[in-house]
Amino acid sequence: MIKGEGFILRPFRLTDKKSLAKHANNIKISDNLRDKFPHPYTEEGAEWFINFVLSDNDPVKNFIIEINNEAAGAIGISPGEDVYRLNAEIGYWLGEEHWGKGIMTAVIKATIKYIFENLGIKRIYAMPFATTTGSVKALEKAGFIKEATIYNGVIKNNKVLDYYIYSITCF
Ligand SMILES: CC(C)(COP(=O)(O)OP(=O)(O)OC[C@H]1O[C@@H](n2cnc3c(N)ncnc32)[C@H](O)[C@@H]1OP(=O)(O)O)[C@@H](O)C(=O)NCCC(=O)NCCS
Repeated sequence: MIKGEGFILRPFRLTDKKSLAKHANNIKISDNLRDKFPHPYTEEGAEWFINFVLSDNDPVKNFIIEINNEAAGAIGISPGEDVYRLNAEIGYWLGEEHWGKGIMTAVIKATIKYIFENLGIKRIYAMPFATTTGSVKALEKAGFIKEATIYNGVIKNNKVLDYYIYSITCF
């Protein structure tokens, strides 16, 4: 468990399904994520995802962002494979009622520290759509550097979009 200012990062629990679905069931969240993040986001969907996460949970690679005793968001770590195995991608979302208070910036910073100290990873990256201003700002405030713009790299909701690659490295 990682304690931050106003939030806790901790492993998923089956009892999270209700609050997870409550916060995740928001088109403004799913619009900024990959299509595998469903909308509508039901309690059954939450339960499926929690079981999926718990099936490969050592070391912990997915954290619930707990705020006011609720599962109010999540951040996941996906280590690369083969020659990319010292890289890890992060992906995250937060319930809308908590946006704009600096929470995700602090969550990203805490996650970076956890990854570099515990997982032997040398480079952490994220790939926000160019339209996700809040995410880009949070990454930059957490110390990530923009490596590239990938033009026409994404199709979301039938719209072709650019995306960015942001990274932070451990020397
Ligand atoms: C992106 C997200 C995680 C940001 O969380 P947050 O806790 O609000 O982030 P922070 O407050 O730490 O920082 C975000 C910054 O962007 C700003 N911001 C947030 N949403 C914004 C938006 N839609 N448009 C413009 N700026 C926005 C905030 O005001 C803040 O700026 P400031 O520090 O100058 O005040 C949250 O908005 C979210 O879950 N969005 C939907 C899912 C998503 O985009 N996930 C990331 C995919 S790469």
